[in-house]
Amino acid sequence: MTFLPIPAPRLLAMAIAMGLSFSLPAQAQEPIDQQLDEYRQAAQTFGKTLKGELQAAMKAGGPMAAVSVCNERAPEIAAQLSEETGFTLRRTSLKPRATEPTSWERAVLEDFQTRRADGESPKSIEWHEVANVDGERRLRYMKAIGTDGVCLTCHGTNVDPALKAKIDKLYPDDQAVGFEAGDIRGAFSITAPIEG
Ligand code: HEC
Repeated sequence: MTFLPIPAPRLLAMAIAMGLSFSLPAQAQEPIDQQLDEYRQAAQTFGKTLKGELQAAMKAGGPMAAVSVCNERAPEIAAQLSEETGFTLRRTSLKPRATEPTSWERAVLEDFQTRRADGESPKSIEWHEVANVDGERRLRYMKAIGTDGVCLTCHGTNVDPALKAKIDKLYPDDQAVGFEAGDIRGAFSITAPIEG
């Protein structure tokens, strides 16, 4: 008797037709989950470090001095964390002061606005996707940044004219005013190749 081997694709098609379903083994998801957790930690460290320095500067020298902290320290902290983690970290916003969103960041920020309008808290609003960028699998992540009382001094509806003048000198295209407490001010955006 001759044995006819069944080609693998046909075998797969037969198995599916028989009602078997296939899913990726659990391990395939794990590296992404782990990398996402590292992103969440990096975003949290970025936020906490910056807010800590901002509040200290506001207390010590008032908002005029604190503008310099945001201007100098925000990019420095981002660069330092990027170097430590190997991820690319930044902050962006639909109404940016310093950093315009890319097209995919803009789409995510717009979705965040919808989620906020539907009642979700900025604290829990986050998003991720695996993207193929020039043949490389990358994990993209964004996390909403809420607006609270301390932010309104420099991002609110009533920014002191002298302070606004200083801000405009540093950022002639500033759009980051007119926010209210509870609004989404912007988001952390983190990307890196997928590890492992
Ligand atoms: C003393 C003034 C001041 C205060 C207070 C302040 N910011 Fe800002 N903010 C700035 C400046 C200046 C920049 C631009 C920083 C840069 O060059 O990266 C900025 C940029 C940002 C960005 C980056 C996106 C963009 O618009 O370019 C976010 C997000 C942000 N601020 C959120 C906050 C939040 C949240 C708070 C409150 C916890 C806050 N800011 C309080 C001055 C301030």
